[in-house]
Amino acid sequence: MTNNNLTTENKGSSLDGESQRDTAFPIESERKLKARVIVITSGKGGVGKTTTTSNLGMALARLEHKTLLVDADIGLRNLDLLLGLENRVIYTGADVLNDKCRLEQALIQDKREPDLTFLPFSSSQSPTQFSRKSISNLIDRIVNDYEYILIDSPAGIDDGFWAAIDPANEALIVVTPEVPSIRDADKVIGRLIANGIENNKLIINRVQPKMIKSDEMMSIDDVQNILGIPILGVIPESKQVIIASNRGEPLVLDQKLSFPGLAFENAAQRLQGKTTELIDLNKASENPVKAIIGNILNRKPKSTKRGDYDLKN
Ligand SMILES: Nc1ncnc2c1ncn2[C@@H]1O[C@H](COP(=O)(O)OP(=O)(O)OP(=O)(O)O)[C@@H](O)[C@H]1O
Ligand SMILES: [Mg+2]
Repeated sequence: MTNNNLTTENKGSSLDGESQRDTAFPIESERKLKARVIVITSGKGGVGKTTTTSNLGMALARLEHKTLLVDADIGLRNLDLLLGLENRVIYTGADVLNDKCRLEQALIQDKREPDLTFLPFSSSQSPTQFSRKSISNLIDRIVNDYEYILIDSPAGIDDGFWAAIDPANEALIVVTPEVPSIRDADKVIGRLIANGIENNKLIINRVQPKMIKSDEMMSIDDVQNILGIPILGVIPESKQVIIASNRGEPLVLDQKLSFPGLAFENAAQRLQGKTTELIDLNKASENPVKAIIGNILNRKPKSTKRGDYDLKN
């Protein structure tokens, strides 16, 4: 990575140079490389874990954080598809553990965002037997090479869940505003806490502001009050999510950012610890254009790569 702001002119004397350095664009040696290991999980299946992992991971990489995405969904892997990397999978984490290849051979570096790396755990053709420590054994070897490691957990709370949470020190629980999803998320949060993972945050996905307004859907506050943990992001229901999945292009890569793309980028900024306000979907139901502009103004991006927004969705 280069830092165009670090020219000879603006460096001055070495001490002045330190104080003037633009910390928004850290050079390689300044990066904090001891990964936060975050599992993306849920109780109920199909609520948006893989969608969230692909978009948050890509957004973090766009923010120039070295990020590894691990697909821990044994047998039913599909993070490779959402990332558009399915044709590049030759070896997997399971092959590494079975001594069929070296770990470096299973790591796939994204060509669109060089800070993004993908590690599929098992091949879709051959579901692998694995232990609770399998994924931890791999991650332990590379935890110092990344700033963020996001683990896409399988649905349910059987063996795959335990292997996915084992290396994690934080969790994002994806939930939709529906009773079954919330009840299952509550059980999962209990298990995470019982296993020492106490830094837990919510991603509330598939939110429909119009339904909330007409009292047909639980509000964001309702969901948070029931589950009692902080919200990292709220993502609207949108056909753009499905289009992006089919293309293998995470929404946050769009040149004109859609509303759900903006919501994922907002969540990535909050994950970094920025105090960016939560995107306001309720306003969107009243006046979508006004709301999205309000959300953009709230956003404090470093992004120089994107110039425009698609306000239609
Ligand atoms: N915000 C959204 N708007 C519209 N569709 C969505 C949204 N989020 C997810 N989906 C769709 O829901 C389906 C399930 O999403 P995804 O695969 O991310 O869920 P999952 O929790 O990983 O599922 P599983 O438990 O099977 O691993 C996909 O078809 C996806 O495109
Ligand atoms: Mg999934």
